[in-house]
Amino acid sequence: MALFIKLFLALTLVSFVRGLENGLALTPPMGWLAWERFRCNTDCKNDPDNCISDRLFRTMTDLLVSEGYAAAGYEYINVDDCWLEKERDSYGQLVPDRSRFPYGMRHLADYVHSKGLKFGIYEDYGNFTCAGYPGVIGHLETDAATFASWDVDYVKLDGCYALPQDMDVGYPAFGRHLNGTGRAMVYSCSWPVYQIYAGMQPNFTSIIQHCNLWRNFDDIQDSWASVESIIDYYGNHQDVIVPNAGPGHWNDPDMLIIGNFGLSYEQSKTQMAIWAILAAPLLMSVDLRTIRPEYKAILLNRKIIAVDQDPLGIQGRRIYKHRGIEIWSRPITPVYQTYYSYAVAFVNRRTDGTPSDVAVTLRELGLTNPTGYRVEDLYEDVDYGVLSPQTKIKVKVNPSGVVILRADAQPAYQYRGSTGRTPYEPLNEVYRLVSKK
Ligand code: GLA
Repeated sequence: MALFIKLFLALTLVSFVRGLENGLALTPPMGWLAWERFRCNTDCKNDPDNCISDRLFRTMTDLLVSEGYAAAGYEYINVDDCWLEKERDSYGQLVPDRSRFPYGMRHLADYVHSKGLKFGIYEDYGNFTCAGYPGVIGHLETDAATFASWDVDYVKLDGCYALPQDMDVGYPAFGRHLNGTGRAMVYSCSWPVYQIYAGMQPNFTSIIQHCNLWRNFDDIQDSWASVESIIDYYGNHQDVIVPNAGPGHWNDPDMLIIGNFGLSYEQSKTQMAIWAILAAPLLMSVDLRTIRPEYKAILLNRKIIAVDQDPLGIQGRRIYKHRGIEIWSRPITPVYQTYYSYAVAFVNRRTDGTPSDVAVTLRELGLTNPTGYRVEDLYEDVDYGVLSPQTKIKVKVNPSGVVILRADAQPAYQYRGSTGRTPYEPLNEVYRLVSKK
């Protein structure tokens, strides 16, 4: 075999070996996760509708399908903390709370699967989960086997009550046990965030190899201040964070809290847009029984979901920040010659109560394809047509709101001969805002 071919094969192999070899999460996982909205409510006696119980997860499973979330791509129903009995059984196995999960986890997983969805569970690498239930340490192999026997599809492994120094060994070990079961399970890690809290520098090369997603920063809370702090963290640390994302391995800025109590409509749009730019897992934590239609529409915005799920899996960056205005941009498909398409989000962090104008040429945004970009707004039904790099676009961004555009790189005009029309020449066109309505 020619040396060149050998070299090519070796390089290809290297690029395949990067990342957990379970073949999962080639785009960021999407689904529903109990924690932010339902917390550790175990009081089924007084609050049967909202406690962490078999019933809650079956209800959310039904709604994920009947309300159109599953059709839009949300596929995981994920249990978080507080599902366990406080003690393992006499064989050392984990036991779901007997009164709140009376049929066991396999039965619940079967139900979720019967609706065409996937089932996720929560555990913790340490002695206890964050809420004080038994952790996996000392039982790694048993617990991985238990999850496989319950037909679990996704495991979130938290890091409370563990030594951050042990995680470089412990997280990969549990991941190997998961893989060793022969059942493919998405592996969500909290490994870097606990190490960062402890002042350590996480080994992201190893984290990428062993986890499908991982948390870098604080738990999201039901407030705009919390969402802002996450946006700032990801912007301020992007040089370290962004290169770690790619198909099969994602940064997790935590759940979507859209539809709860803390975010305004504008702020909810901003969370969705920035999470898509960040190539974030889209895990809704919201009561799907009571969510208002306008918030539901944000979560179901297929154009923004398509940005999040772009197959290239390149995480976006904050490319501009000045006087409360930020511009975030993410390379996406289609790629024409050497030119990416882009999703571009303009965020207004100002609190003066009137929209701010932002005007910028595509070239200033780094969009330089000489044959132009087809630009559309992903929330408003506005099509800007095909714009050349020197076109200046102007958007109005509401306080704590966002405008998100998609700019698809256009191929060169191909003259088709006999139409009699003047060949399209993007550089000479005068572009006007065209509303589709
Ligand atoms: C930690 C995690 C949260 C949640 C809770 C549960 O704080 O970061 O996402 O899982 O534990 O106790």
